[in-house]
Order: sequence, then structure tokens, then C-alpha cells
Amino acid sequence: MTAANSSDPRLLFFAGSARQGSFNKRLAKLGAMIADANSIPSTFADLADYPMPIYHGDLEAEEGQPENAHKLKNLMKAHTGIFIVSPEYNASFSPLLKNTIDWISHIRDDGEAPLEVFRTRVFALASASGGGLGGLRGLIQIRAVLELGTGALVLPEQFALPRAREAFDDNGHLKNKDQTEQLKSVIQKLARAARVLHG
Ligand SMILES: Cc1cc2nc3c(=O)[nH]c(=O)nc-3n(C[C@H](O)[C@H](O)[C@H](O)COP(=O)(O)O)c2cc1C
Repeated sequence: MTAANSSDPRLLFFAGSARQGSFNKRLAKLGAMIADANSIPSTFADLADYPMPIYHGDLEAEEGQPENAHKLKNLMKAHTGIFIVSPEYNASFSPLLKNTIDWISHIRDDGEAPLEVFRTRVFALASASGGGLGGLRGLIQIRAVLELGTGALVLPEQFALPRAREAFDDNGHLKNKDQTEQLKSVIQKLARAARVLHG
């Protein structure tokens, strides 16, 4: 995480996989590295550090939302652009990501409009998969949830990394320079959109 002026866009990167060797985490970490290298302050968050139970209405009624949902929501509030990288599971996205979005969407702090943290940030999407489509189909579903479900603004530009098993070098960079440029372009657009939205 680099130092930021209050008017700078600040990007939060996280992945919809908590798996240790996750390709999507590697891509999210790389995104944060690329942002930092381009003077865009950024943070990588690992959802493994924010475990939450599966959403259950009775649990919520008894105990409220989990502390980790509050923590992650506050981290989102500290950033102006959110870059989500998610695996594709059966042509949709991961239950971990859906559960995380669901819990956070139900938190309404004092003085906040419903879903405020989603409606006042810009989102960008990426995916990585061992397969040939790179998890592209899951991104359509995430887009629907964020746009229709939470009212978020999601950039039309997105990035999908196919054959992720062979895509990274030992330093966590992509071997393919064109792919790196595509990812960088989405990150820069997210930063520009976040600046426009937040002034
Ligand atoms: C239940 C399940 C369903 C999957 N479905 C797809 C799929 O539809 N398309 C795809 O490209 N990969 C699919 N995969 C493979 C994942 O993309 C692969 O496991 C990937 O490495 C998971 O992301 P991660 O490395 O970030 O943990 C599926 C994996 C699981 C466990």
C-alpha cells in the first residue's frame, strides 16, 4: 500500500478464492503491484483473512453481521475503486465471493443509504482459470449481481486470464506482455473512473 493524497484514487484488489495457491489471488496481487508501479495507491486483501459463515437470516437476526464483514466493508470505504478477481465455478462465480457480497450488502451503518458502499465506488472485474476461456463466463454473473443487485457502477472493460497454470513467471508477473498491458489498461481505467466519481 503506498501513501495517497485524499483526492487520489485508491484501489482495493481482492480475489474470490481463499485457496493458498489461487491463480485469482495471484492475479489480484499482480494488479495491486501494477497499480503501485503506476503511482496508483492500492491494497491487496486476502479473503482468507476475512472468514464469514454462510449467510443465514436467523444467524443475522441473533448475532448481526460478522465482524469480518464490517472490517471488509470499512476497507472498501477506504478505497475509491474496487478490483475483484474471481474464479469461475460452473459458469458462475465462487460462493465465497457471493457470500462476502451478500453479508456486506446487508450492513447499513448509521447515516448511510442502503448499499451505499457499493453505489459510491467504481468496480472492475477480472478472472483467471486453468481453462481456455479464463473464467470469462463467471464475470457476467458478477456484473449482474453488482449492477442489478447492489446498484454498483462496473467498468465495461474486464480481463480474463486463460491457462493460468502456465501464465505466471516466478516473480508473479504474467509471461505474456500483451496480457500485462490489457490488465494494466483496465486498472488505469478504474483509477480514472474512480477519480471522476470522487473528484
Ligand atoms: C466447483 C468447481 C467448478 C468449476 N467450474 C469451472 C468453470 O465453469 N470454468 C472454468 O474455467 N473453471 C472451472 N473450475 C476450475 C477453476 O477455475 C479452478 O479450480 C481455479 O483454479 C479456481 O480458482 P483459484 O485458482 O483462484 O482458486 C471449477 C472449479 C470448481 C472447484
